[in-house]
Amino acid sequence: MSSNRCLIAGNWKMNGILEEALEFLSELEANPAPEHVEVALMPPFTLLHSLSKPLDEKGVRLGAQNVYYEPKGAFTGSTSPMMLRDAGCHYVILGHSERRDIMGETNAVVRHKMDAAWSAGLEPILCIGEHLEERESGRTNEVLKSQLAILADVDADAALTIAYEPVWAIGTGRTASPEQVTETHAFIHQELQRLGHDCRVLYGGSVNPGNAEALMRCPGVEGALVGGASLKADSFMQIVKAAA
Ligand code: G3P
Repeated sequence: MSSNRCLIAGNWKMNGILEEALEFLSELEANPAPEHVEVALMPPFTLLHSLSKPLDEKGVRLGAQNVYYEPKGAFTGSTSPMMLRDAGCHYVILGHSERRDIMGETNAVVRHKMDAAWSAGLEPILCIGEHLEERESGRTNEVLKSQLAILADVDADAALTIAYEPVWAIGTGRTASPEQVTETHAFIHQELQRLGHDCRVLYGGSVNPGNAEALMRCPGVEGALVGGASLKADSFMQIVKAAA
């Protein structure tokens, strides 16, 4: 079972070289996170080993942005779950809309990766979310329900965090309104309960220091998955503090 603590996680996507990461770390030093807020960072694969120890010393958990489902072998360019554990990862983001839309990952592939992640002791952060046309045509709940259906036969105590990321809010500067967030998180929690899960649900999509407090106050929101605003320690830590 995943912890019920509020989680603020930074997804750096395909951004960050060592020099930038070291600068981020030195700024993080001056901004300790509040006790009851869990903080995690998902840098690119190339930075995982280098950031593992320094982040651990600051009480920040490490995560990866993807994983392959085979344990080892001739899969050029892929990274196994055990490799992520070896690099110090606790989390792995799966089902992100960028991987679904650009790399063509299906719900079945996402589930396969989740099983592999669990078998290596990783906690998946499963991303779900609707496209704009799906929201506008009233199909949001139907889409979310089909994305969550992969959890139907998953153990109730599997370590799991969900991130609701409306695709139209990712990297657009357009966030879901508190009403939309409240309503959608209520649906997600209800659906999770129906499937026998009681896990943490984060919100993601253009979260920034200016809107974080209002979003984190919405009922059913238990943290944030932050993209662009997690690249600078200062704005990331302002979001962490807004969740306190
Ligand atoms: O996974 C985080 C994400 O997709 C949101 O990105 O840049 O809109 O905060 P951003």
